[in-house]
Amino acid sequence: MLRYFYSLLFSIFPVFVFGQSLQILDSGAQVSFRGLSVVSEQVFWCSGSKGTLVRSVDAGKQLEWIKVKGFEERDFRDIEAFDERNILIMAIGAPALILRSKDAGQTWQKVLEDSTEGMFLDAMEFDDKGNGLVIGDPIGGKVYLARTSDYGHSWRRDTSSFSMLEGEAFFASSGTNIGTVAPYLWVSGGFYSRLFCQSKKIVLPLQNGKSSTGANSVAVHGNKAIIVGGDFQNVSNSDSNCVLLQLIPKLTLIAPKNGPNGYKSCVRHVDQQMWLCCGTSGVDYTKDDGENWETLSLSAFHVAQVVPHKRIIYLAGPNGKIARLTL
Ligand SMILES: *[C@@H]1O[C@H](CO)[C@@H](O)[C@H](O)[C@H]1NC(C)=O
Repeated sequence: MLRYFYSLLFSIFPVFVFGQSLQILDSGAQVSFRGLSVVSEQVFWCSGSKGTLVRSVDAGKQLEWIKVKGFEERDFRDIEAFDERNILIMAIGAPALILRSKDAGQTWQKVLEDSTEGMFLDAMEFDDKGNGLVIGDPIGGKVYLARTSDYGHSWRRDTSSFSMLEGEAFFASSGTNIGTVAPYLWVSGGFYSRLFCQSKKIVLPLQNGKSSTGANSVAVHGNKAIIVGGDFQNVSNSDSNCVLLQLIPKLTLIAPKNGPNGYKSCVRHVDQQMWLCCGTSGVDYTKDDGENWETLSLSAFHVAQVVPHKRIIYLAGPNGKIARLTL
């Protein structure tokens, strides 16, 4: 009951706890946002179901709602914005699609299309030189993998990809299963949850054994990484939902002392030892590289991204919810 009260309170009013503020910029639309790309404090983009995108160029004061013409029924689970006009959006399957726009979503060009049965794209990731990856659920037992080196103008399938186990796949919950492009680092879930890091495949001590369990997201900062997940069908279950990683000199997995609350679909590095994660269970953060987590809000979000070099975070989620958080 208390939880319900708090989530109601948090979803209606901005929350102010020790100088932090979570400000809901919009909510109520029948759209689920799982894609988010933050270019700067001023410019960010969201993508979601029903061919819907949202753009802001003034730090969230005004939100511009855009329908992707000709693709009004598609669910765009990931988005990569290079600036306020050049963007890529990804639709999962039947057919799997990546579209590119250079005029802020007025016109679109298909840069990847694949109607192979079973195609399900999960996430795109780019480095700052325009090299990118898109990963999808296994086709013929191997991770679907395509690469670009020109900011997504052209893509090539990489068939030298990696084998996966029966029942192992990726979640398309926030487009953040890829931590780094090169050397690549990504996480899987389902019946098995593993970390793929260069030539290593490491079983993660996260919930597993169901199609709804395992790692959803990874964030890398320096020689550390944090992986989050859980069970999306059991949102309040906080068992084995987070693992901390030391990457150098030897890959080491560490369990947090006080993990985050419930199922989480996205984790991001904020600043120094501060990281944040979110999910349908709410928003949690840590000030000690993931050892101890505190709940900031019980309001549901699928995805978060940090403004570079600032403690400002944009979040997006179910029911057309978009928020701005200052830590
Ligand atoms: C959900 O998680 C709780 C532990 O938090 C567990 O007791 C319960 O059995 C789980 N329910 C299902 C349906 O898996």
